[in-house]
Amino acid sequence: MKKYLLSIESTCDETAAAVIDENYQILSSVVSSQIDLHKKYGGVVPEIAARAHLERILPVIDEAITQADISLQNLSAVAVATQPGLVGSLLVGVTAAKTLAMLLEVPLISIDHIAAHIYACKLHAGEDVFPAIGLVVSGGHTNLYDCQSALDLKLLGSTIDDAAGEAFDKVAQILGLSYPGGPAIQQAAKQGNPKQFPFPRSFLKEDRLAFSFSGLKTAVLYQTQGQPGANKQPPELTPTRIADIAASFQQAVVDVLVAKCKQAIQKTGHKTLCIGGGVAANTEFRTQMETMCQGENIRLIIAPMKYCTDNAAMGAIAWEKFNAKIFAPLDLDPTPGLVRA
Ligand code: KG4
Ligand code: ZN
Repeated sequence: MKKYLLSIESTCDETAAAVIDENYQILSSVVSSQIDLHKKYGGVVPEIAARAHLERILPVIDEAITQADISLQNLSAVAVATQPGLVGSLLVGVTAAKTLAMLLEVPLISIDHIAAHIYACKLHAGEDVFPAIGLVVSGGHTNLYDCQSALDLKLLGSTIDDAAGEAFDKVAQILGLSYPGGPAIQQAAKQGNPKQFPFPRSFLKEDRLAFSFSGLKTAVLYQTQGQPGANKQPPELTPTRIADIAASFQQAVVDVLVAKCKQAIQKTGHKTLCIGGGVAANTEFRTQMETMCQGENIRLIIAPMKYCTDNAAMGAIAWEKFNAKIFAPLDLDPTPGLVRA
């Protein structure tokens, strides 16, 4: 009898469930996005996110089971993303998973959301990708890892302030573009000149594997609204100016991400680079990362678009734990903060 696993994801603002069989085939991947709820605030509001997860979690699980054409009794395990994330959001998924595991008397498996983002690359490649450098670049994280295996990740560096996706969202807000900011900036940037504004690129020339995007965000703010205390006002924010700022901002983020991945590759000697997270959906980022990897003779695997942003299919990583018999207790609690291995 084939084994099936239910994966649940509720770390931030996507309520998701997927059914994955023991051969890593994704039989269903249901994602209920809350973008419309958070749009008017220009970012995720944790309390609203938690309430929306509560309303959606059961229908989403139901839909995943129905689409996979199985019944709950066919499940061999229930897996859930338990870290990192918003505590209220995490609690909804974790409670649902614990309840199901208890009722069905099957093992409960805890998923590290960041490791799952990197695992989306393995799913995509359909073959082993480790050891590798892993970059997770999303609304909540900008982390570089030395990945010895799917479950053995060592943090090489992360952002000291905003995540790259968060910077996209905030800059979009400054420019009066829609939420989420990434796709809106990418669209506006198409008509812009990426060299028009020399925005800062933090730590670019330093050996340190760390990121910082808050100075970049402030530079965009000053370019748009003027510097505090300055008596000269910036020019009107015309569509051309918006396009140039968007393109220059996007290029600054891409330059830093590409440079730090290159440094991580040179430091570790790894020959594979795996990238996941919402910002990896950015086309300029993908193109320029590819060029760098070709130059360095590195195998680049970027998660496919549908598995870049939050989803439960990347929870296929739970099979690695199932096979290693690494199960979670039924009194499992979520861990909101980043776990630094
Ligand atoms: O991975 P994700 O869905 O959620 C988190 O775990 O944060 O990433 C969402 C982030 C948002 O900040 C969004 O603006 C960004 O990914 N994003 C993009 C693009 N599409 C989504 N950033 C740049 N370019 C894009 N095309
Ligand atoms: Zn994520």
